[in-house]
Order: sequence, then structure tokens, then C-alpha cells
Amino acid sequence: MQGLTVQGLTVEALSVHYGRQRVLDNISTGLLPRGEVIVLLGPNGCGKSTLLKAMAGLLPRQGRMLLDGRELGRGRGQAEGKLVYLPQNLPGDVRLRVDESVMVAANALRSGLGDDSRSAVEQLLHRLGISQLAHRQLGELSGGQKQIVALAQALIREPDILLLDEPLSALDLRRQFEVMRLIQTETRQRNMLTLIVLHDLNIALKHGDRTLLLNQGRLQGCGLPAEVITPAQLARVFGVSARVEHCSHGRLNVLIDAALPAGKL
Ligand SMILES: Nc1ncnc2c1ncn2[C@@H]1O[C@H](COP(=O)(O)OP(=O)(O)O)[C@@H](O)[C@H]1O
Ligand SMILES: [Mg+2]
Repeated sequence: MQGLTVQGLTVEALSVHYGRQRVLDNISTGLLPRGEVIVLLGPNGCGKSTLLKAMAGLLPRQGRMLLDGRELGRGRGQAEGKLVYLPQNLPGDVRLRVDESVMVAANALRSGLGDDSRSAVEQLLHRLGISQLAHRQLGELSGGQKQIVALAQALIREPDILLLDEPLSALDLRRQFEVMRLIQTETRQRNMLTLIVLHDLNIALKHGDRTLLLNQGRLQGCGLPAEVITPAQLARVFGVSARVEHCSHGRLNVLIDAALPAGKL
């Protein structure tokens, strides 16, 4: 019965090796429910991108991934359109207009959006605040504009699981806020699951439903952002002395005071 099935993604004992080096070690997340934005945090080189690539089936992996209780085949999720992955480094210049590139992504859907695809593309560009870019060439866009177009290409494919690797890195402050709010809204409305790599802890606290904290290939924390983003964890994982305090609006904020001397990590 549908009601009894667990709706969401479970990663079980996932490990990845590059040659003989084990880069991800036995990652088990428990159930990541549909409708949630899961923020993946961790220092440079800890394995965040590797985790997303392995989940997308782009790297050989050990372990299992279950969506709604059913095992996803290695790589098959992406082919079925269930899983859409946006890499950290977006592909180079493509000779296409913005709206054409999103149409191409729409037409790659297994069901297709049919005659409605043009209006679906227009509506999505509007919701993302980039209607004015529709007729521009991709190669002419700024880094931040390209990131938003790439997000449109990902969303139009109606994924069950959306994997975003640092999608805010080139966006200005306002765009970061707007894009996170949109990701949250779309994730809830489509009942999909979004896993997003970020470096900004305050964005994770504000817009994340759940946080995964990775360090040296191991999962150091998994839970509500306020449970995972604590001074003790920030000292252990990032090597910083930090405060997590309520602001005048009652929300949690992180303040970094100092980098800890190496011996104190
Ligand atoms: N293609 C590769 N071959 C060998 N080692 C790699 C490769 N890609 C990444 N690594 C190594 O794997 C580790 C994790 O990298 P990555 O997942 O990119 O980290 P993050 O995204 O957290 O910054 C790093 O030590 C990195 O040097
Ligand atoms: Mg990375």
C-alpha cells in the first residue's frame, strides 16, 4: 500500500575509491524524506562532489541507494530521469539560446512535456527571474546567469532527486536568497528531494531541512541543521572557533571568531 511505503531516499553503506584511495567510507544517511532540502557541508576535499557523482551513477560505488524503498540501479536513476545532477563545474560554451537549451532538456524527459513544453519553459524562466535572458546565447552569460540557467535545465526534467553541487557559488547575495527559496518551494511542491552542496552555514540553517556533515570521507553528522551545526562540530570538522547564536529575529546564526591552532583540532 502506498501509504505504508517509506517515501524518500536512503543511502546505505556507500563507499567510493579512486584507485586504492578510499574517498568515501561507508556513508549511511538513514531516510532522507521527499519534500526536503538536504544541505551537504564539509571542508574542501572531504568528498562532497564525489558523493554526488557516485549517487548520480557517474563513479563506481559500493553500497545501495533506495528510493521509496526500491533499489536504484547503478547509474539507472539518471537514465530514467529520476535523478538529475548539476556538476560543480558547468560545461563550457554551448552554441544555443537559453530557452532552446532548456527546451532540449525538457525534450530529454522520458514522458516528454509535449506541446506544453514551450509554455512550461517560459513559466520556469519566469519563476527563476531570467525571462529577459531567454533569447541570449549561453556563451554570452555571466557565471551566475549560467548557474541559474543550469538550474532551469535541471528542474524542467522533473527529477525525483536533484543533486546540486555548489549551485550558488557565482550568485550575488539577492540571487542566493531567491534561488534557495525557489529550490525549497519547488522541492516541496514537486515532492522531490534536493541534495545541495553549500559552504554558507547560515544559508544551511535558514533554508535547509536537514544537514549532512562530511569530513575526510566520513559522515560526521546527519540531522536537523541546528543539531548538526554546533560549535563543537565546527571546531572538529572545519577547525574554527565559532558561536551559534539567536539573532534579533530569533533565528540561528553562525559567527566565526578564529581559526583554531592545528594542535587544537
Ligand atoms: N578523479 C580523481 N582522482 C583521484 N582523486 C580524486 C579525483 N577527484 C577527486 N579526488 C580526491 O578525492 C577527494 C574528494 O574530492 P571531492 O569529492 O572533489 O571533494 P569536495 O567536493 O568535498 O571538495 C580529494 O582528496 C580529491 O583530491
Ligand atoms: Mg566539490
